[in-house]
Amino acid sequence: MRPMNILMVASEAAPFAKVGGLGDVVSSLAQHLSLLGNDVRVLLPFYSTIGEEHRKKFRPIPAVFSIHLGEEHFARIWEYVSPEKVCFYFLEYDRYYHRDRLYDSGGDGFDDNAYRFTFLCRAAIDLPDFLQWTPDIYHVHDWMAALVPVYLETVARRGRLAKTASVLTIHNLQHQGYADRSILAYGGLWDSLFRSDQLEACGGVNFLKGGIYFANKLSTVSRSYAEEIQWPEGGCGLHGLLRFRSGDLVGIINGIGEEDWNPATDGRIPHGFSAENLEGKAKCKGHFFREHWKPVAADAMPLFVVISRLYWQKGLDVLADILPWVVNGMAVRFAILGSGDASLENHFRFLGECFRDRIWVRIGYDESLSHLLEAAGDFFAMPSRFEPCGLNQLYSMRYGTLPIVRATGGLRESVQSYAGGVANGTGFVFQDLTHQSLHDAIGWACATYYDRPDDIRTMQRNGMAQDFSWKKSARRYLELYGWALEKKNNS
Ligand code: ADP
Ligand code: GLC
Repeated sequence: MRPMNILMVASEAAPFAKVGGLGDVVSSLAQHLSLLGNDVRVLLPFYSTIGEEHRKKFRPIPAVFSIHLGEEHFARIWEYVSPEKVCFYFLEYDRYYHRDRLYDSGGDGFDDNAYRFTFLCRAAIDLPDFLQWTPDIYHVHDWMAALVPVYLETVARRGRLAKTASVLTIHNLQHQGYADRSILAYGGLWDSLFRSDQLEACGGVNFLKGGIYFANKLSTVSRSYAEEIQWPEGGCGLHGLLRFRSGDLVGIINGIGEEDWNPATDGRIPHGFSAENLEGKAKCKGHFFREHWKPVAADAMPLFVVISRLYWQKGLDVLADILPWVVNGMAVRFAILGSGDASLENHFRFLGECFRDRIWVRIGYDESLSHLLEAAGDFFAMPSRFEPCGLNQLYSMRYGTLPIVRATGGLRESVQSYAGGVANGTGFVFQDLTHQSLHDAIGWACATYYDRPDDIRTMQRNGMAQDFSWKKSARRYLELYGWALEKKNNS
């Protein structure tokens, strides 16, 4: 396959801007595609939250960048080339991106999110002329970048981008991006797009719907999720359109950044370890208790870990409900790191106060602590209601921490369940998100820990031996880009 020019458009890319897995995936996929010989560039907003340690490496492109929305706007582009030769462009426009957080001020999304990301999408369309560089492919992620394919197939159909194709990856169908009809005039988009089979939904404009309609090819981040979203239960109102486009929709499981998440070399954990020698893992557990959970000491009790955004999707409200019951009935400890819904944050805080020696809670976002917890844990709980892919179960398996997951989306696809007596699994999988099922799954893991330690060791080794690299998935994306180009240029 010949090398391609690929422009990724996204609202997150680690380590610059990250709220969840989207940021990890955009950066690690871009790096991998670049290492395979492609010219990969990434456009994202220049958020004021980007740390000084990063921004001091950015260079401004001296020319003024004009963006052709309904009216012309002027912005600035900053550039940074990573060691893997991925070129990141940061779109500086303080009116939209100078905020304390990426998407919201702690509660609902910012009122002008639709404007902020229409701006990003139109900038992505104007960028190639500005750079005098033509992408073969726009790879756009989630609703925030979903208007790019709409522009590409309508107002930007001629000129430099006439042969450029688009791929839209859906990381999470629950968030679709809504605005009233006037966004079309703001964005310089045709009013005729306001049709129920294109951008219109419930009387407003639905960004993701437009992207799904217009992108040349579509993907989601696991095969199971690609299937689930074509049914009313998982389709968040878009299952009909997704079914209509199912011939162009594929599921490609996420890989992980193998350098960042390698227990043998991870600089954020105090002791390295590997499948052959898990001594360092036990030391990391000791370190966690000494440094973060005094006066409790590491002992024979298993440590169950949660690292997550605290939202409905993740099913952690059910965990919060049963935790008192769990710690009263089983010899286990829980360590929970997360932030999100204020009510769930408060619930976990309260549980931490009530059960100080059994439940440890840290509300907030802490990258270093997330690595330490992955290394220190015995089990990782992920009872998601839905999970397009999920990265933490992959990180957990890599770190010898057995995931306990609900059979949904990428969790179902990536974790092989323990089948009592035969230690061929990589974790514990349960079906229904009910209080009883989650309680029983935790009990199952706990009993196995105490009664069959050899099975636990074998499963740790099984998980650590899995290949979660981008090798296969990055090639599948390249294949998908090829199909998108064919579709665009042969139709
Ligand atoms: P999602 O993208 O739905 O949040 P994923 O499992 O794909 O779920 O990715 C979550 C990512 O965000 C992981 O890299 C995880 O470690 C990280 N993360 C989530 N919450 C926190 C937190 N409170 N502190 C540190 N990292 C977190
Ligand atoms: C989304 C999904 C998560 C997925 C991540 C990266 O945030 O919720 O399951 O792993 O995107 O693709």
